[in-house]
Formats: sequence, structure tokens, C-alpha cells
Amino acid sequence: MRVVDLDRDMSDVIPTGLTPDSEFLFDQMTQITLDSTGARPGTRVLDVASGVGQDSLALAARGASVIGAEPSQRMTGMAQLFVAEREGPHPLWVRGWADDLPFKEGSFDACICKGAMDHFDSPERAIAEMARVTREDGVVVLAIANFESLACRAGRALDDFRQDVLRLKPLRERRGYDAPSDHFTRYEIDLIREQASASLRIQSIEGVSLGWGMPGWSKTMARLPKNVADGAVRTMGRLGRLWPQLSDVIVLVGKPRRSASTSR
Ligand SMILES: C[S@@+](CC[C@H](N)C(=O)[O-])C[C@H]1O[C@@H](n2cnc3c(N)ncnc32)[C@H](O)[C@@H]1O
Repeated sequence: MRVVDLDRDMSDVIPTGLTPDSEFLFDQMTQITLDSTGARPGTRVLDVASGVGQDSLALAARGASVIGAEPSQRMTGMAQLFVAEREGPHPLWVRGWADDLPFKEGSFDACICKGAMDHFDSPERAIAEMARVTREDGVVVLAIANFESLACRAGRALDDFRQDVLRLKPLRERRGYDAPSDHFTRYEIDLIREQASASLRIQSIEGVSLGWGMPGWSKTMARLPKNVADGAVRTMGRLGRLWPQLSDVIVLVGKPRRSASTSR
């Protein structure tokens, strides 16, 4: 039996009041992922695990023909409501699992999967499927949260110190460096590189943002004058690009490998 919550929505994931560091992280993650597709009029793009559909819609607004594939009827229902209020070209929605995509080999110029790989019960099969449905010189773009980021390492070190030396409780009940209960995989740079390289020839690995979730960071950014906070998160963002292994989010771009195991 497949243990996936098909009724989930994003209310526990998407922060409501955005602080400058969250704003920077979510904007950059989205922009870099979408830009990497090369979406423009005439291109075909697949958004795997499209959720509430905001990325599919943004890609369609760039002129691409977009399909959002999503197993959760509830998420797709929210996506339909979300796009119904918006003008311009709309994506198509298809119900489908990432590891069994209902498309022929080479159907798309680009395929994205943003913020979802850690929810998949067979992520390697999902990457192989994304490689299969993307044409040989197209791109597959995978964006994942890095659970070995600087912020995760700092949070864990601080909690260890509090518990082992000061005999105090961890700072927060939900420790940001532990994968949430609805994640199957706790991603970091080596793992995504290893999983992706079985089906993709990796073109780039980019780090997005640095320090998000570090103890006290968000509160400090929210208290600073907006221009100072924006400058600080941008500077940290530049460091995240230099050290993707420490960044908050990793965006991997690869081209499909064609082999017996990636065709069917
Ligand atoms: C955190 S949301 C991300 C949605 C969207 N990509 C975004 O960036 O907002 C994760 C999504 O993965 C979907 N999902 C979970 N398991 C899946 C699977 N095996 N195949 C495809 N999608 C899956 C969930 O229904 C959910 O919509």
C-alpha cells in the first residue's frame, strides 16, 4: 500500500507573514528553477508534483505549453481555483505519480520538480521517469531543501550543546534540521547528486540562500530596516552560491541519459 497523504495541502509549509530572509529564499528558489527550464513560446514543460500550481502558471505566462502532474486531487483542486482567477494562458492538469509519468519518451523540452522530491517514496525512479519524458537535449531541474545547510548544522550544534553541556531542552520543539514526518528522504548535496547522476548528466548544481532557519536569524532580519535586511540576505545568498553544500536550497540541472534503464 502507498503511504502518501493525498489530502494534504500546503498550509503547514508556506509561511504566512514573509520575513526578508524567507522572501529571498522562496523568490530565488522559484526564479532559478523556472529560469533553468528555458521556458518560452513553443517549448513544452512538465511540472512534476505541481502542488497548488503557481509554478506551472508562471511557466505558462512565459509562453510555454505547461502540464502540471500531481497525484493529490485536493492540491489540483486548489490549483484549478488559483488559476481560474488569473488571466492569460493556463496549464493543463494531469493526475499522476512522479515515478510513473503518463507520457511518452521525450515529450517535453524541460521538466521541473521543486520542493517535492523528499515527499516521494521512490525518488530515484521519479528522476528516471523525468529523464525519460524529457527529450535528450532538454533539461530536468530538481530543487530540494538541503538538510545539511549551514543553518541546519548550526541549529543542531546549538541543540547538542544545550542538551549535552547545559542539560537544557532543544530551542524549538520542531527541529529544522530533522526531516518532517511527511518526508521520505533527508536531502543534502551528495545524495541528490548521486541519485540524479543515475539518470541525468549533471550540468550545474546551484546553492540558493544561506542561513535560513538559523537560530535568531529570521527575527533579526524582521527587526532590521528593510534595506539593511535585504542587503544582508543578498550577501548571504552570494555565499550560498559559492558553497552550495551549505546553502538552504539546492537546484540541480541535468540532461537525460538515454539507456535501456531510462527508456521503456
Ligand atoms: C511541498 S509540495 C510542493 C509543490 C510544488 N512543487 C511547489 O513548489 O509548491 C509537494 C507535492 O508533492 C506531491 N507528491 C507527494 N508524493 C508524490 C509522488 N510520489 N509523486 C508526485 N507527487 C507527489 C504532493 O501531493 C504535493 O503536492
